[in-house]
Amino acid sequence: MNSMDFDERYRCYGQLIEKALGECFAAQGLSFDGLLEAMNYSLMAGGKRIRPILTLEFCRAVGGSPEAALPLACAVELLHTYSLIHDDLPCMDDDSLRRGKLTNHVVYGQAIAILAGDALQAEAFGKILRSELPAQVRADCAQALADAAGVDGICGGQYLDIVNSGRKLTEAQLTDVHSRKTGALLIAACRLGAIAGGASPEQQEAAMFYGACLGAAFQIRDDMLDVLSTDVVLGKSVGKDFRGNKTTFMTLLGAEKCEKMLRKFTDAAKGELKLLPDAEFLCELAERLAYREK
Ligand code: IPE
Ligand code: IPE
Ligand code: MG
Ligand code: MG
Ligand code: MG
Repeated sequence: MNSMDFDERYRCYGQLIEKALGECFAAQGLSFDGLLEAMNYSLMAGGKRIRPILTLEFCRAVGGSPEAALPLACAVELLHTYSLIHDDLPCMDDDSLRRGKLTNHVVYGQAIAILAGDALQAEAFGKILRSELPAQVRADCAQALADAAGVDGICGGQYLDIVNSGRKLTEAQLTDVHSRKTGALLIAACRLGAIAGGASPEQQEAAMFYGACLGAAFQIRDDMLDVLSTDVVLGKSVGKDFRGNKTTFMTLLGAEKCEKMLRKFTDAAKGELKLLPDAEFLCELAERLAYREK
């Protein structure tokens, strides 16, 4: 795939996603508009939209139409945005910068930030269940998202991340934390798209394996950028992991070994896509994410 095709499709997906997300929580002229405003503040702050792009592309890559997966793509991004709002709270990572803007609790206060996160999480499931997709697809997707959000996924991973602050973890332990807090949702993003596109069980497995490898690479890069990037480029505060006494792949292995692991996981992700008729975009995406600057 030449880079123009990639950029063009990426831009196209981005437009679809921004429009659909922008329509999720329009003000209703009612007493709870302030909550919708807080939800929209973080949702529309301009994230990279990697997860919803994966959902749309997996749907297409197994033979479906990306538009059919749009409610699922939105659901994944709503859930991701909730996890970021809560991750930034003073009792968690205590961050004041996210997506290039002040964090939700800095603008709206902690109580409203917590509620905005809670509502985004619930609405993520609502988005799937209220969609016009076939009932079995909706049920399977809601189940897959629940797997990613709960004890085996984000919440379990965030719990381990918090209780292990200040402790030195082994590489295996850190890999487990990462696979839950970050990998699980990337797996779900791929899986939801594959389900919506009518993937075979083998293709669904491949989508999940790709998501897992991409997730591993993604969090390694995130840990690297926390050390190597700047607030302005990244849109969030760098040096947080160090100040929060977190074991990260950077503290454990250093930059050079991180680069090697990035390569290994990126190649593994790409290698898993042979079962798909057209995986060029997904291969290129894995490459670009491995070397992303933000
Ligand atoms: C940040 O995710 C949280 C991690 C899992 C590392 P992203 O880097 O995808 O954040 P946005 O959505 O672009 O803001
Ligand atoms: C958070 O990991 C992953 C989530 C579930 C939100 P980090 O704490 O490293 O994410 P950033 O660096 O704040 O985006
Ligand atoms: Mg965190
Ligand atoms: Mg954080
Ligand atoms: Mg981080």
